[in-house]
Amino acid sequence: MKEVREKAKELMKGYCRVCPVCNGKACAGEVPGMGGLNTASSFRNNVESLAAVQLNMRLIHDAVQPDTSVTVLGIPLSMPVMAAPIGGVSFNMGGGITEEEYVNAILGGCRQQGVIGCTGDGVPPFIIDAGMDGIAAVEGHGIPFIKPWDGEELDQKLDRALASACPAVGMDIDAAGLVTLRKMGRPVSPKTPAQLKAVVDKVHAAGRTFILKGIMTVVDAQLAVEVGADAIVVSNHGGRVLDHTPGAAEVLPEIADAVKGRITVLADGGVRDGFDVIKMLALGADAVLIGRPFSIAAVGGQAEGVAAYLEALRGQLVQAMVLTGCRSVQEAGRHILRGI
Ligand SMILES: Cc1cc2nc3c(=O)[nH]c(=O)nc-3n(C[C@H](O)[C@H](O)[C@H](O)COP(=O)(O)O)c2cc1C
Repeated sequence: MKEVREKAKELMKGYCRVCPVCNGKACAGEVPGMGGLNTASSFRNNVESLAAVQLNMRLIHDAVQPDTSVTVLGIPLSMPVMAAPIGGVSFNMGGGITEEEYVNAILGGCRQQGVIGCTGDGVPPFIIDAGMDGIAAVEGHGIPFIKPWDGEELDQKLDRALASACPAVGMDIDAAGLVTLRKMGRPVSPKTPAQLKAVVDKVHAAGRTFILKGIMTVVDAQLAVEVGADAIVVSNHGGRVLDHTPGAAEVLPEIADAVKGRITVLADGGVRDGFDVIKMLALGADAVLIGRPFSIAAVGGQAEGVAAYLEALRGQLVQAMVLTGCRSVQEAGRHILRGI
């Protein structure tokens, strides 16, 4: 990973400084870029809220060979990790590799390691083009995320996603706040429950599951259940859409308490290693998404970089499960956390 990170630093030309700790401080305000919006407090809160969670170390048990596998939305995963949708390699990462190379690295590296990658959407259209071509290249083993477009564009893009062999389709509803789209004059907006239900029905009619990304409150999580979504991603979009939100790890327990069992709960924001993964699971997530570390791995080492990052993550997760006494991912409950 050292070589991969050095190569990424060179290719990302200051767009990402590949800091020893990816916490949003050096890149504050850099959107476009890899940073968080304005003061980047939302990005920092993701990292800091996870860092504040402590693990109870337990050694008197028989969890010596933990099973990291899970099935999420009917998709078998070798561990509860997915690559988050990230688009715009040219204007966010300096264009050291192409959008196509990036998507192929993410999806290919994830498939190699028995997990799944997601693809992004945006302007220009090469973002979704690369995503859809990349998903076709891995026989549908990827999840496309569509932005909350207004009018016909939403239907057209959903049709495109559903024409692929993907198992699930997502919408990053929080992209309604994305400055990059506003700057380009492209209409995106929040959706009413009725509008969302129409999207869910369309996705279900095509035999796929629907993931709603960008849920940060209990009320939105409950509405996601009511409109029939199959999963939510507790996420503030890596701190890129609204400054001054709490970290995802801060709101995850109350959201999980309200809806878990009725909808699959995914979460992202600030997850960097396998220890962060187990913290998110214990706070209530069924699986996690990871963003920026995958970007560094993909730009610096393509599919092999992504696979190497996942391999390291798997080692850390196994170590965390052994040292907290979890034989399976399902056993990673709140009891492994100090004081929660
Ligand atoms: C450069 C960049 C581009 C992104 N593009 C998308 C996108 O197209 N769709 C989406 O749902 N989320 C997008 N995100 C948000 C990520 O999916 C994810 O929520 C976030 O990066 C998680 O935080 P982390 O990077 O701290 O892991 C983007 C994030 C970054 C940094």
